[in-house]
Amino acid sequence: MIKVITYGTFDLFHEGHYRLLKRAKELGDYLIVGVTTEAYDKTRGKLNVVDSLVTRIENVKKAGFADEIIIEESQGQKINDIRRFHVDIFAIGSDWTGAFDYLSDYCRVVYLERTKNISSTMLREKNSPIQRIGIIGTGRIAERFIPEAKLVSGVSTQGVYNPHRESAVRFADKWEIDPYEEIEDFYRAVDLVYIATPHDTHYGYIKSALEHEKHVLCEKPMVLRRAQAEELFALAREKNLILFEGIKTAYCPGFHKLLGIACSGIIGSVRNVEACFTKLEKEDSRELNDRICGGSFTELGSYVMLPILKIFGKDYTSIRFDAIHGEKGLDLFTKVSLNYPTGVATATCGLGVKSEGRLLISGTKGYIVVEAPWWKTSYFEVHYEDAGRVDKYSEIFLGDGLRYEISDFLSMINGSSNSEFKLTRGESATLAGIMEQFMRSENRDYENMGAQGLQPEIS
Ligand code: CTP
Repeated sequence: MIKVITYGTFDLFHEGHYRLLKRAKELGDYLIVGVTTEAYDKTRGKLNVVDSLVTRIENVKKAGFADEIIIEESQGQKINDIRRFHVDIFAIGSDWTGAFDYLSDYCRVVYLERTKNISSTMLREKNSPIQRIGIIGTGRIAERFIPEAKLVSGVSTQGVYNPHRESAVRFADKWEIDPYEEIEDFYRAVDLVYIATPHDTHYGYIKSALEHEKHVLCEKPMVLRRAQAEELFALAREKNLILFEGIKTAYCPGFHKLLGIACSGIIGSVRNVEACFTKLEKEDSRELNDRICGGSFTELGSYVMLPILKIFGKDYTSIRFDAIHGEKGLDLFTKVSLNYPTGVATATCGLGVKSEGRLLISGTKGYIVVEAPWWKTSYFEVHYEDAGRVDKYSEIFLGDGLRYEISDFLSMINGSSNSEFKLTRGESATLAGIMEQFMRSENRDYENMGAQGLQPEIS
C-alpha cells in the first residue's frame, strides 16, 4: 500500500484545495492530510485565518479524498509524521517547490502544480475588503506600526495625519503612504484609525474618529480617566464600532499561554503577582519632560498592570502608589501595591531607575517566572517545591508583536472572531481609573486633561 501525506491550512476550502487533494490521493492508495492548528498558523505569520480548525477539518473530510486527517501543530513535525505513518510520498502544491526537498531523505517528495487564480488569501480579501488604516501621529510607535501592519492580510496603511504638514510629509515619504494635514480629508480616505499621539490627546482623537464612524485602535494608555474610557466605549457601542486599546502584550500568543497555565491550577491558587518593567530614557525625552502626562507610570504602567488585572481581576480592595521623582517632578520610578481578597500584587516601572524586568506569579503549589522582556512573552518556567522539577514553555513572538493586536482588531471588525476577552472594555476602563488615581496622587493637573478635544500639536 502506497501512503501519501500532504499538509495545509485549507481555510475557506476552495477548488485549488480540492484538486490538490484529488491528485495527492491519486499518487497512492492511502492519503493522510495534516491540517494546521490556529496557533501553528500564527507562528508561521498566517494571522487572519477565517475558518476554525473544526470547520477546516470538516471541509477536508467532505472533499472525500482523505483516509486519515491529522493535526499539524509545529514546525519539524513532518519528519516525525512521515516516519510514524511509514509514508512513501510527501505531496504539496508547487508554490512550495524546493521548500521540502529535505524530506527526500525520508520519502519521495512531489510538488503538484498549483491551481491558478484561486487562493484562501484571495477569498479572504473578497469576503472582507481590504481595510485602509490611517495613522494619527508620526512618532516612534507609529514608525513601528507600519512594518507590522504590512504583515497582516486584510489591511493596508493608507495615510498619516499630522496638522504639521512637514512632519506628515516626512513620515509619509518614508513609508510611501499619503500625508494629511486636514483631519476631514484624512477621515474620508481611511476605514480604521490607529492613534499613536501623546497620551493627553487620545481622548479627543478617539472621540473625533468614532464620530466620523471609524473603528479605533489606540495606543496605551488609551485614556487617563475612567469616565472618559466609559464614555468612549459607550459611544463606540452606540455606533456599532470597535474601540480597542493597544497593549500589545495582551494579544501575543505567549502571554495567553502564560495566563492559561497560571489559571490552570498547576501552581495552585495564585497569591502573589509581581511585574516589573524599566526602560531608561534620555533626559531630554518627551517621557521625562511632559509635565502632565510624562513619567514612568503613564508610560509603562499599562504593561505592568496587565498581568495583575488578568489574574486577580478588577476588584482590588486597596491600591497604593510610591514614587521617586526627578527634578521636573515626574516619577522616575513607581511602585504600585494592590491588595485583593485572595492575594497581593506589585507593579513596578521606571524610566530613570534600572531594575530586573521580571514577571513572577506565585501560587500555593509553585510559581511561574518570566524574565524580561516578559511583555513580549516567548519563554517562561514553572517551578515547584521540588527544585529539581522545572517545566519550560516557549511560544513564538514575531517582530515587534504589534501584528497580533492588529490582526485581532481586524478580526473583530470583520466579525470573524471575538478577541474582546484578551483585554475587555472593563479592564481598559479599570486601567484608565488606575491611571487617574495615580495622577491624583501625584497632584498632576489631571482635571483639565483630555477635556480640550482635538489637540493641534502632535510631534
Ligand atoms: N493549493 C493549490 N492551488 C491553489 C491553492 C492552494 O494547489 N490555488 C495547495 C497548496 O499548494 C497546498 C494546499 O493547497 O498544498 C493547502 O494550501 P493552503 O495554504 O491551505 O491554501 P492557500 O489557498 O494557498 O492559502 P493562503 O492563500 O492562505 O496561502
